[in-house]
Amino acid sequence: MKKAERIRSQIDRLEEKYKDSGQDLGSYLDGLLYQRYLTYWDYIHLDTLLSLQVPRTHYPDEEVFIMYHQITELHFKLIIHEQRQLVEDRSGNLDFFIERLRRINSYFQALIGSFGIMIKGMEREQFMRYRMALLPSSGFQSAQYRMIELYATSLENLLHPTLRNGQPVPGGLEELYEQIYWKKGATDRITGEKTLTLKQFEQRYTPRFLRIATEVRERTIYDKYLKLPERERHNELLIKTLRELDLNANVNWPLMHMGSAYRYLHREDKVVESTGGTNWKEFLPPSFQKVIFFPTLYSQEETEQWGKQWVDHILNPTSVEYKEYS
Ligand code: HEM
Repeated sequence: MKKAERIRSQIDRLEEKYKDSGQDLGSYLDGLLYQRYLTYWDYIHLDTLLSLQVPRTHYPDEEVFIMYHQITELHFKLIIHEQRQLVEDRSGNLDFFIERLRRINSYFQALIGSFGIMIKGMEREQFMRYRMALLPSSGFQSAQYRMIELYATSLENLLHPTLRNGQPVPGGLEELYEQIYWKKGATDRITGEKTLTLKQFEQRYTPRFLRIATEVRERTIYDKYLKLPERERHNELLIKTLRELDLNANVNWPLMHMGSAYRYLHREDKVVESTGGTNWKEFLPPSFQKVIFFPTLYSQEETEQWGKQWVDHILNPTSVEYKEYS
């Protein structure tokens, strides 16, 4: 097609596109004429992005802390972006399923690989000071972390481990949600009192979490997997990718994260309180919470050993990993 012909055809198509908008194409073409060129910095809202690092103290490492949390939240957003596509997909296309899971795994791997920025990238002395200005906020209040869980699997698999025994929890979705594992983690076992961190988190996000849980009821990624035709359910690559996702989300990321908690909060001689007020040594180890998104993909032994060998390394003071963290 010659240049003039191509332009004519483009104008015809534009006319078709704008004919129902109540404006004629000429007005839109004028707009195009007067519009500024788009720049990189406007396109990605760079100035806004770089204005969001606002420390509360004068300790320089606080900025590292803030930025790494923000980077992680952006990765969480990328993960949710893929999860939503999976949940909403009606094509049932297996390649699409596997490819989105692969992307999610690559985001998690980036996060796992870069956690050293938190573990080794700040001075403990600075951390111990500036964190006092953050009380009672905690990464525990990361809503996106909880959303990743809600999109991945049904509420039954997110209950406190003592309730994950196959026995139905009486009541509906709201009752199930009340028994979710992280609520128990931030509740005093003796008094039953919730930490302030949890109270504020619930107040801010409960309606949204319940909305998502309702929306994805029987449509989570795990549900989608279970509803696949039998032959596809046995697809080796799919199973491998799902298991990788479980390990990334529920063992490897939590362990790297726990590495930072140990590096900064663990002391032989005294208990250092966390900003969120959980009993963090009992709350954080993946082998204690045993969150598993896709439980039927594991043998009983694998389930029993969930995250354990790694935790043994971290808790055992003679291990190499432990020495690195301390
Ligand atoms: C020096 C670095 C860090 C330390 C010392 C640390 C410490 C902790 C502690 C002690 C908890 C338990 C809740 C509490 O009592 O506060 C926690 C929970 C959590 N933190 Fe961090 N954290 C660090 C970095 C991060 C980063 C970079 C993120 C990324 C968003 C993050 C996200 C989370 C999440 C999602 C939880 C809840 C985990 C769960 O429910 O299993 N943390 N953190």
